[in-house]
Amino acid sequence: MINKRLIGIVSESKKYIVGNVVCQWLSLVANIAMMGAIARLLEKIFEGAADERQIGMTAAVALVAVVTRFFCAVSASRMSYLSSKAVKKTLREMIYRKLLRLGISYKENVQTSEVVQVAVEGVDQLETYFGAYLPQFFYAMLAPLTLFGVLSFVNFPSAVVLLVCVPMIPVTIVAIQRWAKKLLSKYWDQYAELGDTFLENLQGLTTTKIYQSDAFKHQEMNEQSERFRKITMKVLTMQLNSITIMDLVAYGGAALGVILATTQFRAGHVDLLGCLMIILLAADFFLPMRLLGSFFHIAMNGMAASDKIFKLLDLLEKKQKSGIVPKDCTIQIKDLRFSYEPEREILHGVDMEFLKGSFTAIVGESGCGKSTIAAILIGRNKGYNGKLTVGGVPLAEINESSLMENFTYVSHQSYLFKGTVRDNLQMANPDATDDVLWATLEQVNLAEFLRSESGLDTLLNEKASNFSGGQCQRLALARALLHDSPVYIFDEATSNIDVESENDILAQIHMLAKSSKTVILISHRLANVVDADNIYVLDKGIIVGSGTHSELLEGNTSYVQLWNAQQELEYYTMRGDVL
Ligand SMILES: Nc1ncnc2c1ncn2[C@@H]1O[C@H](COP(=O)(O)OP(=O)(O)OP(=O)(O)O)[C@@H](O)[C@H]1O
Ligand SMILES: [Mg+2]
Repeated sequence: MINKRLIGIVSESKKYIVGNVVCQWLSLVANIAMMGAIARLLEKIFEGAADERQIGMTAAVALVAVVTRFFCAVSASRMSYLSSKAVKKTLREMIYRKLLRLGISYKENVQTSEVVQVAVEGVDQLETYFGAYLPQFFYAMLAPLTLFGVLSFVNFPSAVVLLVCVPMIPVTIVAIQRWAKKLLSKYWDQYAELGDTFLENLQGLTTTKIYQSDAFKHQEMNEQSERFRKITMKVLTMQLNSITIMDLVAYGGAALGVILATTQFRAGHVDLLGCLMIILLAADFFLPMRLLGSFFHIAMNGMAASDKIFKLLDLLEKKQKSGIVPKDCTIQIKDLRFSYEPEREILHGVDMEFLKGSFTAIVGESGCGKSTIAAILIGRNKGYNGKLTVGGVPLAEINESSLMENFTYVSHQSYLFKGTVRDNLQMANPDATDDVLWATLEQVNLAEFLRSESGLDTLLNEKASNFSGGQCQRLALARALLHDSPVYIFDEATSNIDVESENDILAQIHMLAKSSKTVILISHRLANVVDADNIYVLDKGIIVGSGTHSELLEGNTSYVQLWNAQQELEYYTMRGDVL
């Protein structure tokens, strides 16, 4: 129950643990002195020889002992607090840094809800492990030995019996531990599962309401909560039962000591003072171990949580790669194959080239793999086969920060943070002045709207719920423009918005393409890509054609079909004949 790795990680707390044990030990010594004085007074009273001086002396010793014990208790709890504080800070920081190192693909390995639970609840459990359990663990060893040292001079056989009975408590603990470990691991699994469902249902609450599927979700959550309630009850029952058993051992042991002391007294092997001291101190042999037993369950829970924390901390990190994106950032793709799941290949040997400074489009029907290619390019989808190089350097060797510095990815779901417009924009370029920010906002046609609000200090709600879809996409584009990277990838960046916003954004994308940036534009709408230097037509994970718009119109059946279908649709939509 002493996890060396855990203690090693939070080595700062070692000194507080030692301090805590010392305080508790001093308190014990004060208690022994007080009990000694009381026993002496009782002996004198029994002999009828107690005088005022004796009573005064006992009172003085008791007062000093009580004051000492008070200060020791205050210092011990302060030490507990300091050690817990160190644990929380260190572990949460480690988890946070680990997530940063795992990078944008962290979700491949671990679920968000699990990370949240481990970092919040899991770390809280360990706070008790360090603050209460560990000091008690050492003190529970030290206290019986100290008492044995004192009482062995009083009456050796009684002291030995008391000392021998103490380990019965840890033996009980070990017996319970075997069973408890499995139970607690199950408890944590259920807890994480419930948290996962809760988070998902909360995020999808609006959708649930729209489709009135509350009843179904309600039932699903009820079932999971019920499972969690049952396992929580099992854990509590286990804890209560084991506490009862430990109480029996502790008080039974103390009673045995008392019986032994009185028999020894009757046999004349110990005087009254000694007998009284054994009686008064017998319980103290067991109480620290008994308290350890009750902390033990919290510690067990902490251990289960620490397993989860270590699992997270031990996740394999991709080595920090040394490659960087070279100046000539032409992207070449040869025979690219990719699958999300085994036996279901999404890309079946794709060949592509994105020349530096060129404007390339990728078109194709929904689900053909366009976004998959974009996600591979920005390092989010790993584990592809084939050759993918940027300026001759394999993508797999390029470190994430260089990739993020050189590739700007904009999708229709680009994340806007709660905060001001300025905060959201300066993420892309912390040095940008207000003038630069305004100029960019002008470019994307958002300046006028923001001026009518609070300018750059306009506040965005969570998930930018107070901005329209078009405004969000314009703001995301402004942020992308401020990033000023050599490569831009737009994945349906103009979907779901009005034609006016779409045209504004496309105009900016075309401007970028003219200003020597490499632009990759993924779009459903072929009308958006007619100006591209090169268009790749993707069909079910295979490139079925490439060329300029006019070349493809002449010789590529897939493209012609897509084009005609869209033209027809737009023609009818304009006439309002259909739909
Ligand atoms: N995370 C994922 N796990 C498993 N399969 C996925 C995942 N993401 C996408 N797919 C599958 O990969 C295929 C290609 O998806 P992708 O998102 O690349 O299509 P797309 O061409 O971008 O489509 P759209 O035009 O609708 O955005 C689809 O069949 C999809 O089911
Ligand atoms: Mg897509």
